[in-house]
Amino acid sequence: MTANDPSPNHLQLTRDGQLRHFLTLDGLDRALLTDILDTADSFIEVGERTIKKVPLLRGRTVVNLFFESSTRTRSTFELAAKRLSADVLNLDISTSATSKGESLSDTLLNLEAMASDMFVVRHSQSGAPHFIAESVTPGVAIINAGDGRHAHPTQAMLDMLTIRQHKGRFEGLKVAIVGDVLHSRVARSQIRALNELGAAEVRIIAPGTLLPRDVESLGCKVEYDMSRGMKDLDVVIMLRLQKERMEGALLPSEREFYRLYGLNQEKLALAHPECIVMHPGPINRGVEIESAVADGPQSVILNQVTNGIAIRMAVMSMAMGGQIAERQQKSSERAQA
Ligand code: CP
Repeated sequence: MTANDPSPNHLQLTRDGQLRHFLTLDGLDRALLTDILDTADSFIEVGERTIKKVPLLRGRTVVNLFFESSTRTRSTFELAAKRLSADVLNLDISTSATSKGESLSDTLLNLEAMASDMFVVRHSQSGAPHFIAESVTPGVAIINAGDGRHAHPTQAMLDMLTIRQHKGRFEGLKVAIVGDVLHSRVARSQIRALNELGAAEVRIIAPGTLLPRDVESLGCKVEYDMSRGMKDLDVVIMLRLQKERMEGALLPSEREFYRLYGLNQEKLALAHPECIVMHPGPINRGVEIESAVADGPQSVILNQVTNGIAIRMAVMSMAMGGQIAERQQKSSERAQA
């Protein structure tokens, strides 16, 4: 399988339609996405307790394998696993044998030999988590923590949880995603989730140089002018300019980008008065967003971070549940044969 496989669900779902890996939102239906949001909702209360733990992954080992830098995703996956009572191993790639030339497959074989139950994988190559899910020992769950430009499914789901908390619904909502869509795995997953959950309109606001070819085929409208694009919005999601992934001069300058596409109070005033402002982070103040907006009353950026823990608890517990159910089903089939 590759990241472009149109039917990834033979890999990430059990025969009964339960999650066993979480690789992409492609092919996941509204009922399953809603189940993830409802399960995450039930975990929010755990984070408000004095003792923030439930025993759902007690005795299980979760390995965080981050081949790219991360603050939010890595920390919230670690906290989520610990709140589910798992043992957590954070492999430091810069000091691991990967830096001595060990292949990804060999690193994984060694970690599997330590009886790991789940790998949370971030990788610069699109499709790396799919590749691992194809070859991993049955019973081990793979969770995609962001792969190349392909997908960041837990980020999109924590964004959906945040939207649902603030708006109470998806139906009728007009949502814009602004900025560097070309390099954004987050935008691809968000567009998929918003369409599946029933948003009225997903609008992309960006210069032509930061749009993928055939962007409309992802399920969105394109607006090149930010003042027109902000009109009637219920939700505006700003993206980071991913300078590390840019090849060649895609922008005249950061200052010009900010003038045309940066979110300031003046542009935000063109949206619906109750429009919420989101950003997956890390934010670049004065490049994509003005501080007065990032820290202002319409910003829900830090709510997104908090919700990352509950969403990741939901996805990890559901995938482990799917793996266990599948193993039980196979062993009962073997006993009957
Ligand atoms: N949103 C996001 O993926 O942030 P990190 O790169 O800090 O994990």
